[in-house]
Amino acid sequence: MAHRIHTLVIVLIVSAVSPAVSRPRFREAPQFYNSAGCPPPLPPSPAAECHREALVHVAMTLDVTYLRGSMAAIHSVLQHSSCPQSIQFHFVASSRIPFLNSTLGNAFPMLAFKIYDFDDRLVAGRISTSIRAALDRPLNYARSYLAGILPSCAGRVVYLDSDLILVDDIARLAGTPLPSDVVLAAPEYCNANFTSYFTPAFWSNPTLSLTFSDRKPCYFNTGVMVIDLDRWRAGGYTDQIEEWMDLQKKIRIYELGSLPPFLLVFAGRIAAVEHRWNQHGLGGDNFRGLCRDLHPGPVSLLHWSGKGKPWVRLDAGRPCPLDALWAPYDLLQTPFNIEDS
Ligand SMILES: *[C@@H]1O[C@H](CO)[C@@H](O)[C@H](O)[C@H]1NC(C)=O
Ligand SMILES: *[C@@H]1O[C@H](CO)[C@@H](O)[C@H](O)[C@H]1NC(C)=O
Repeated sequence: MAHRIHTLVIVLIVSAVSPAVSRPRFREAPQFYNSAGCPPPLPPSPAAECHREALVHVAMTLDVTYLRGSMAAIHSVLQHSSCPQSIQFHFVASSRIPFLNSTLGNAFPMLAFKIYDFDDRLVAGRISTSIRAALDRPLNYARSYLAGILPSCAGRVVYLDSDLILVDDIARLAGTPLPSDVVLAAPEYCNANFTSYFTPAFWSNPTLSLTFSDRKPCYFNTGVMVIDLDRWRAGGYTDQIEEWMDLQKKIRIYELGSLPPFLLVFAGRIAAVEHRWNQHGLGGDNFRGLCRDLHPGPVSLLHWSGKGKPWVRLDAGRPCPLDALWAPYDLLQTPFNIEDS
């Protein structure tokens, strides 16, 4: 039980927010090249087109607070990909961060990417206050709007949070088979207590709780998802998510942020991804920030969900042992970087 609640809370902390920070400086990442057998490299931005021929489309949100994490995540995706030059990134940013374009272009000169503005007003009126103010941040909800934000050339997309690194080829994750009636794939956790994600008011209202009557819902984390955007668009799933958010404003049916509407619409209807693709919780305990260990089994993706972020702990000189796995992907260039001298 304690573990289950723990898992629940971890999901929330991913989007902790802090006041504006000054422009960070990043060094240029090494260049990673396509191996033999890959499609031809995509032209790098500034072409800023959507490339139908991309091998993998990746969507991430970007904000100043988590930019260091996002840069490391991109770095890790490229480093472990067989065809890094055939990946297109789609970055959704909450408001135009003036230096985002050049920061990305300088750190990854060959990267094919597009930046999209996320209009906070899209969700502002739909967000009900949750147990943590950071969860109520509009950009947290951008993942529900990807099908509308990304152009139709992106048919399938891998959505990634900012506090993770891949240590395996993203094409394997992107290639997760989706049965023809399935829109979304993610690691599922059927041992988690699903009841606890919704309020007694929800469960005691038959018209609401019947939504799960025709399926076996399991918890999944929305930090790593493979989404068929064509099917999402055809099925109008953003509208369904918005309907639950509107209802939440009238009757409190859950306590968390953007996750429960995803569970309401998709739980029990997703394709399961191997757990190796979301070794979550490395951010640690929510209250004391205790270090966490890996879950048993193989690792393709390390996710620092939870209170602590590896860059914060490393800077503070109090890293957890696994933070050493994040450090090699860090691109932050500090003024006193020893490598510069
Ligand atoms: C990014 O920079 C490129 C080239 O400098 C430009 O063509 C493109 O429009 C810019 N994109 C955004 C979103 O500002
Ligand atoms: C699951 O959570 C609900 C509500 O939080 C609780 O009432 C129930 O006892 C839990 N079930 C198990 C098996 O732990």
